[in-house]
Amino acid sequence: MRKNKVGAQQLDFSIMTLDDDPIMTATLQAYFTTSGYMVDVETDPYRGIERMRDRHYDILLLDFLMSPIMGDRVINEVRTFDKEIYIILLTGHKSMAPPVRALRELDIQGYYEKNERFDQLELLVESCVKSIRQMRIIKAYRDDLDEKNKQLEKMYASLGDSYVDVIKTLRLVVDARDLYTRGHSDRVSHYALRIARAMGREEGFCERVRIAGLFHDVGKVAVPDSILLKPGKLNSAEYEIIMMHPEKGYQILSAISAFDDIAEIVLEHHERYDGSGYPRGIAGEDTREEARIISVADAFDAMTSNRLYRDNLTFDYALNQLVTGRGGQFDPEAVDAFLGVLKEYDTLKQEVAWTFGQQTEEQMP
Ligand SMILES: [Fe+2]
Ligand SMILES: [Fe+2]
Repeated sequence: MRKNKVGAQQLDFSIMTLDDDPIMTATLQAYFTTSGYMVDVETDPYRGIERMRDRHYDILLLDFLMSPIMGDRVINEVRTFDKEIYIILLTGHKSMAPPVRALRELDIQGYYEKNERFDQLELLVESCVKSIRQMRIIKAYRDDLDEKNKQLEKMYASLGDSYVDVIKTLRLVVDARDLYTRGHSDRVSHYALRIARAMGREEGFCERVRIAGLFHDVGKVAVPDSILLKPGKLNSAEYEIIMMHPEKGYQILSAISAFDDIAEIVLEHHERYDGSGYPRGIAGEDTREEARIISVADAFDAMTSNRLYRDNLTFDYALNQLVTGRGGQFDPEAVDAFLGVLKEYDTLKQEVAWTFGQQTEEQMP
């Protein structure tokens, strides 16, 4: 008998020997148990299949010539539920063995012509053990990686959740700081959503418009009170600081990948259709349509809500400004859609009557 060369942990490897000759199974069991394997025996092919269905063995030593079913049938059956088991087919002497061509078609890892010496068979079993061991290492590594990925995903998700909470808070901070524009982002979000719907845009687009509307001025959190709340006209240095809010908003929002699209829209909400806007001065269709829609809604709310620096402009004035800016400051299609929506301004006003105080969680993204 060959000395055990594969290492001391053969007990970790289980063998099923299935042969209708009980002397053969007993001999194999004695041989491989001595080599340190865990060996079970079975002489009935059907019972053998059931036992392999009940528990997984690493290696099957399978007799070819059996009754009532032959080894090839057993292989096909076992492969329906166990693709991993290593199968070594034991054939009788040459005249009784299936042709090599037929053996090739079987899903087995090796075959052995029965003879007095088992060392050849043991070599075959050892090479199976080596590859099973490698497969186990790979599997353990993969499982470990899966587990780590899962933990990482969970971490990202919870980080993402708490960051979204921070952004929501920032938005409320911005809205709460300025008494005269309170509820501005809610109204802009609502107007913009109505425009997008009137333009017949798909749901995903409308949802982006709604969320970007809510957060479009979140970058104003970086503007000091002395400028944001200044009652008089802003000087150019102060105005420049205000003009940084789309980029600040972009930075805040793009830190979270789920907000990438929203961040882009927020960045462009002060661009103008004719290219005279900021921060990049891009024109027409080069900006995102969602941003062009928000720009119309934003301008309208700025004109119609009470502002410190502008006395309660009338609805007619605002309407007139939209028409004047159509194709200049504003995307004409978005203006046309909004003019349609504004025909029911009274309804619209009621819709936006929910102010920051009455805002519910569903209205948040
Ligand atoms: Fe803005
Ligand atoms: Fe705004």
